[in-house]
Amino acid sequence: MTATLEGPRSTPVVRRRRGKNWEKWGWIYMRASGLLLVVLIFGHLLINLYAGGGVSALDFAFVAGKYATPFWQVYDFLLLWLALIHGANGMRTIINDYSSGRFMNRAFKYALGGSTVVLLLLGTLVIFTFDPCPVTSHPELLPSFCPAP
Ligand code: HEM
Repeated sequence: MTATLEGPRSTPVVRRRRGKNWEKWGWIYMRASGLLLVVLIFGHLLINLYAGGGVSALDFAFVAGKYATPFWQVYDFLLLWLALIHGANGMRTIINDYSSGRFMNRAFKYALGGSTVVLLLLGTLVIFTFDPCPVTSHPELLPSFCPAP
């Protein structure tokens, strides 16, 4: 079964306001972040899936080793923020194109903004506070490379 989407409306719900042209900066951000993402995503794929033991070497210890170095923390932080804001801004464009009615337009955009902020904060927290060997009352759950309690 195929679904046919109607074409986007020609008049956007959000009209141009005086002051800073955010649409222009959004447009520029999509191109600039797209360029950086090409480099970051291919680097990510190369290191994770090809270099070393390839995909079969990916495990908890591999991730723990990466997050023990500031270089990979900053690398993944940039990847997370650039890609998530890029994706969210792209979704905002799609919402403006396809959601008719001010209420639904706002509702979708608040949901999008809220989930983007939550994911950015959670992802950043994980990257910078990741501890593979936390103090726990269940040491049997810890990976084998953690020192015995
Ligand atoms: C190699 C990396 C990427 C490049 C070079 C890239 C490039 C672009 C460009 C130039 C646009 C603007 C298109 C337009 O205005 O017509 C765009 C739109 C978009 N991108 Fe990316 N992108 C990349 C990765 C991603 C990722 C990882 C996501 C998801 C998180 C994503 C989600 C989107 C969405 C949702 C749109 C809006 C599509 C639309 O308007 O129909 N992109 N991308």
